[in-house]
Amino acid sequence: MIEIFVTDRSGNARSIAAAEGLSLMEVIRDNGMDELLALCGGCCSCATCHVYVDSSSAGALSPLSGDENDLLDSGDHRTPNSRLSCQIQLTKDLDGLRVIIAPED
Ligand code: FES
Repeated sequence: MIEIFVTDRSGNARSIAAAEGLSLMEVIRDNGMDELLALCGGCCSCATCHVYVDSSSAGALSPLSGDENDLLDSGDHRTPNSRLSCQIQLTKDLDGLRVIIAPED
């Protein structure tokens, strides 16, 4: 298990123990944080799983794919720290990952 820290849109932060191999979206959703809608179920086609990743963890993330990049571009709240949480597979290297759920488009 690894530990991740997720801040919701109200600014409430919580720590979640997460199994490696799951996506970040699955872990956030399965822990009852309903504001992360993840409408497409992780198919990289909805962008409702948008999060901001703390810069300290950016180096440990898998690279952004072209599809993910295009989808993030379609939203109004993209920043340099934007990622789609369904595209982030949790590994040991991401222990301590900190993310903020992005505003709804
Ligand atoms: S859940 Fe739809 S793009 Fe991530």
